[in-house]
Amino acid sequence: MDFPSPKSNIEKLHTYKPNFGKSKINNLIRLSANESALGASLNAIKALKIFSNDLNRYPPQVSDELVSAISKRYSLNKKKIILGNGSDELISILAQTFLNYNDEAIYTEFGFLQFPQAISIAGALGVVANDVNHTASVDNILSKISKKTKLIFLANPNNPTGTFITKNEVIRLHESIPKHILLVYDAAYSEFVINDDYTDGSELVEKYENVIMLRTFSKLHGLASLRLGWGYASENIIENLMKVRGPFSVNAAAIMAGVAALEDLEFQKKSVQHNLKWMSWLEKELKLLNLDFKSSITNFLLIKFPVELDYSAENAESFLASKGILVRGMKVYGLSNYLRVSIGTREENIKFINELKTFFRK
Ligand SMILES: Cc1ncc(COP(=O)(O)O)c(C=O)c1O
Repeated sequence: MDFPSPKSNIEKLHTYKPNFGKSKINNLIRLSANESALGASLNAIKALKIFSNDLNRYPPQVSDELVSAISKRYSLNKKKIILGNGSDELISILAQTFLNYNDEAIYTEFGFLQFPQAISIAGALGVVANDVNHTASVDNILSKISKKTKLIFLANPNNPTGTFITKNEVIRLHESIPKHILLVYDAAYSEFVINDDYTDGSELVEKYENVIMLRTFSKLHGLASLRLGWGYASENIIENLMKVRGPFSVNAAAIMAGVAALEDLEFQKKSVQHNLKWMSWLEKELKLLNLDFKSSITNFLLIKFPVELDYSAENAESFLASKGILVRGMKVYGLSNYLRVSIGTREENIKFINELKTFFRK
């Protein structure tokens, strides 16, 4: 070979491709990335405006200010918190830290795409546990455990399905796995959840060594552009992850905005209320259009489209794009009859439904 070739497991992978649009229309309505409908906290924006000092300085390796703010906001132990460049970074370093070449890691059939990606990059073998009704199945996950299993990745609620398993099911899963297997419990959308029978996983972390909860500032807090996520796990796990994480992977702007966002309880409350209101409105409108969808406790909805070509998900995606509305095609997840749509502002949601009505009238 006369060129440098990557490891064979990397060669087989595809680069992650979000739908941020190719349309020439200005002011695109972006309902394709589960972002915050209401932007970000004004406090966070203000914090960034005064962010000009010390640009020449490296950020702290671990910001005590941000860790303390997280600990205060969510009543958690400071010593168990790790910060990351988005929770994506934490997913990658978990795979790199715990997986050897011959190890296996389990992820769910319609689970978040970064899980199989991170497992493959680490050079380990991803093992799929089938969903039941587009929802993670504890029994199917347990049936995939082998002597080689080191990690189990579970997003709860899950992206792109929006579905979740109950707290009792999460406890049953955890109780049934051997202590040497680490449960990676990704609760990226937990702040939108109001259901009593849900757990964000932190209570398991308080008691056990083999669970890590992952969280993000990209969804409820609306800081996706700054790349800020965090994890909650035993001190031993955090210490090992810190050996692998880039030394300065969380930048100073993200730290400042993160602290300000956490303090803005008003914005958080408003965003949750907005999401609940427009989710139920969207569900009602989709029913009127006779469209099937997965009941979602997140800020997005997975909508099923008819198989007839004219009204297919692919055609709907192109039609909406031609009207300046971006939604997420689900082919990469093996769900080609579906589109995933995030809750937007009032105006965006209404425009989305109006254009969808036009699409079906065509
Ligand atoms: C389930 C889940 N986990 C993690 C992430 C990544 O979040 P971050 O922006 O913090 O990397 C996402 C983003 O879409 C997600 O849906």
